[in-house]
Amino acid sequence: MTPTQAFNQEQRARWNGIDGEYWVNHQDSLDRTLAPVTGPLLAFAAPRAGSTVIDVGCGCGVTTIELARAVGPSGRVVAVDVSAPMLALAKERLRAFANTTCLFGDAAELPLRDLGAELIVSRFGVMFFGDPVAAFANLRTGLAPGGRLRFACWRPIGENPWLQIPLHAVYEHVPRLPKPDPEEPGPFSFSDTARVTRILTAAGFTAPSFTPLDVQMDIAAGGTLEDAVSQASAMGPTKRALADQPEDIRAAAIESIRRALTPHVSPDGVKFPGAIWLVAADSQS
Ligand SMILES: C[S@@+](CC[C@H](N)C(=O)[O-])C[C@H]1O[C@@H](n2cnc3c(N)ncnc32)[C@H](O)[C@@H]1O
Repeated sequence: MTPTQAFNQEQRARWNGIDGEYWVNHQDSLDRTLAPVTGPLLAFAAPRAGSTVIDVGCGCGVTTIELARAVGPSGRVVAVDVSAPMLALAKERLRAFANTTCLFGDAAELPLRDLGAELIVSRFGVMFFGDPVAAFANLRTGLAPGGRLRFACWRPIGENPWLQIPLHAVYEHVPRLPKPDPEEPGPFSFSDTARVTRILTAAGFTAPSFTPLDVQMDIAAGGTLEDAVSQASAMGPTKRALADQPEDIRAAAIESIRRALTPHVSPDGVKFPGAIWLVAADSQS
């Protein structure tokens, strides 16, 4: 198996298994934590009334709903995701929106040619492709000539203490995860602007622009310190670092997360800066 095939297989398994289940079961709180990103992404993407938009890696559909409202009844939003459980929840939530369609499958493989979309949008759904050039090249086939691509992805982990602080707390008790291969899919795999530029131009898009977006994210999602501890310990790398640890080590690591988050508790929640790139590129044809 090539590294690309292995990455793809692992990602499909994660989003149809442990990660997908977590997102489905905690969608309300994840939506609340990520809400500060949605408005700025929508303003940046500027969906046009009456147009067709593709929402890539739509997950449980919260951005699809906003896009459906923006394009209106004469427009259409096609929600694409490789996670069966997440897309099932998206379908349920989108029942009231007749201008939406859900497509289950890999962004690199789904037939999109007939869509003639004006815009592709994604909130954190494009960093997990095993072969990102193939995925973006395939997505581009869904665009009409001159169509636009607008997405949000994380800047480096060092600028994202909402994840770095709990992860370092866990490292007081468990071995560090190996440094990810720069080509490996993952939440921070699009933090390097040179890499994203290389991928998008190879896939037939214009050289992208990167606009920094800085938000405050409540990782308690309106709840308590315990809610923040629970969300922080379930996030990608932190969850992986904790996986398969004996119960006493896990408990000690969770206690370290609790200690690290405590100084950030405020009447508004447990807030941390989130550092994001808003990326814009257009189809070259
Ligand atoms: C971090 S979640 C973001 C979900 C959603 N956009 C949101 O903001 O709530 C990443 C999403 O990308 C999807 N995804 C990962 N690899 C994919 C692929 N190759 N094709 C389509 N979707 C994919 C996952 O299933 C998941 O729903």
